[in-house]
Amino acid sequence: MANLGFRCVRALLAALLGSALFSLLVSPAGSYGGHNLGDWEKPTTMPPLPPRQDAARVARFVTHVSAWGALATISTLEAVRGQPFADVLSLSDGPPGAGSGVPYFFMSPLQLTVHNLEENPHASLTMSLAQTDFCKKNKFDPQSPLCVHIMLSGTVIKVNKTEMDFAKHSLFIRHPEMKTWPSSHNWFFAKLNITNIWVLDYFGGAKIVTPEEYYNATIQ
Ligand SMILES: *[C@@H]1O[C@H](CO)[C@@H](O)[C@H](O)[C@H]1NC(C)=O
Ligand SMILES: *[C@@H]1O[C@H](CO)[C@@H](O)[C@H](O)[C@H]1NC(C)=O
Ligand SMILES: *[C@@H]1O[C@H](CO)[C@@H](O)[C@H](O)[C@H]1NC(C)=O
Repeated sequence: MANLGFRCVRALLAALLGSALFSLLVSPAGSYGGHNLGDWEKPTTMPPLPPRQDAARVARFVTHVSAWGALATISTLEAVRGQPFADVLSLSDGPPGAGSGVPYFFMSPLQLTVHNLEENPHASLTMSLAQTDFCKKNKFDPQSPLCVHIMLSGTVIKVNKTEMDFAKHSLFIRHPEMKTWPSSHNWFFAKLNITNIWVLDYFGGAKIVTPEEYYNATIQ
């Protein structure tokens, strides 16, 4: 029984991977914000980086222009149980130009990350301007603090009914492919409930921003 379930999940994963690879091969990428992935790439549409001394605004900026991030959770896989485990997740904090600061995700119970979150909702999300043209244009190595990146800690929680329309619109407008992901995978909307923020945007160590400062900040 357990075996059958496992085989079934593997078949579904294989199908998903197959269709993902297929769409990579046949269609141009349709997401906004990633490397070669859309409008933020163009210097004319990528808004300027806020002043580096305003770390809260810089953090909001990085979240807003990011189409994806690496989310670390605590693994439930036998081989690495209890150890950190990071995976790439597509995300959006709002339609272009109207970011809320809240990183929204479209998740499936088939994902390893979701298995982990079901046992322990704590997670850490990293997003970097390395996914935009910014770092390459300025010749900043991704590990350089000048290639601005941020780390957010918190818990991943499901989005409630009231917030669902905004989460859905935010994600689907920047990741149009999501609309076609197989409904059999039981996708749901989730978000990171941010408790701690670190900003690496210059030499001298990470800057700490509180969630209050972060949500209070505005970017144009
Ligand atoms: C849904 O979530 C939002 C954002 O966290 C919150 O403001 C709102 O009160 C929640 N609504 C319900 C019905 O729980
Ligand atoms: C979000 O995080 C805050 C700060 O830790 C906490 O007080 C709040 O209960 C959390 N919200 C939910 C819905 O888990
Ligand atoms: C919120 O933003 C306003 C306007 O930028 C600023 O004056 C105020 O100090 C900020 N408050 C916090 C808690 O960051």
